[in-house]
Amino acid sequence: MRGKLMTIEGVEGAGKSTALQGIQDFLLLHHIPFVMTREPGGTALAEVIRQWLLRPELDEFIYPETELLLMFAARAQHIRLCIEPALQSGQWVVSDRYIDASFAYQGGGRNVNPDLLQALDHHVTGTLYPDLTLLLDVPVKVGAARAAKRGAPKDRIEQEEQDFFEAVRKAYLDRAEQDKARIKVIDASSDERVVQAQIHEVLEHFLQVSREGAS
Ligand SMILES: Nc1ncnc2c1ncn2[C@@H]1O[C@H](COP(=O)(O)OP(=O)(O)O)[C@@H](O)[C@H]1O
Ligand SMILES: [Mg+2]
Repeated sequence: MRGKLMTIEGVEGAGKSTALQGIQDFLLLHHIPFVMTREPGGTALAEVIRQWLLRPELDEFIYPETELLLMFAARAQHIRLCIEPALQSGQWVVSDRYIDASFAYQGGGRNVNPDLLQALDHHVTGTLYPDLTLLLDVPVKVGAARAAKRGAPKDRIEQEEQDFFEAVRKAYLDRAEQDKARIKVIDASSDERVVQAQIHEVLEHFLQVSREGAS
């Protein structure tokens, strides 16, 4: 039986990596085989593209369209070499960011041409849409403060100003509003345990519905 594709979205510091640990525990508990992956990335070439995209010291301005095309180049590899084969073999795939991030960051944040974005989505993502997306929503300042506390140096995109991330957050929420069945908004501003409990509830429900659909 084909696996399910789950994606985690949200601005930096929202708690995606933290949430992934809870999701991993959930899948192990339910004996569901899975692979964890991320975007941009997930294949050797896609990880190289990630480095090009995120290195802060690159002494050349990356144009919004270039950023968009590189994101989708990485995604095309990721889908074909990692996600689709895993799903076909019956594994679930959990990705730290996926297609909604392009709409949020390159669409909302960078204002790329929406027709170009839609066309790439149509031709690259195609029908490979997530079965479930968790959008971890936090006020931009909360996410930034958490990310700062974590202490890792900021990558190129993380170095953007607050307005950029406000636009990203808004684009994420707009998308969630348009696709309520797939995208579940999690209030990630509360305590870590409360956030994990919310995620757990969504996952339990999703698993139950998936199993009903399969039987
Ligand atoms: N609900 C929460 N409340 C407070 N701190 C949190 C919460 N969730 C995660 N953190 C902490 O905030 C930082 C960023 O979380 P992380 O999961 O790495 O975010 P992301 O992967 O979305 O950038 C980490 O240090 C993490 O321990
Ligand atoms: Mg993370």
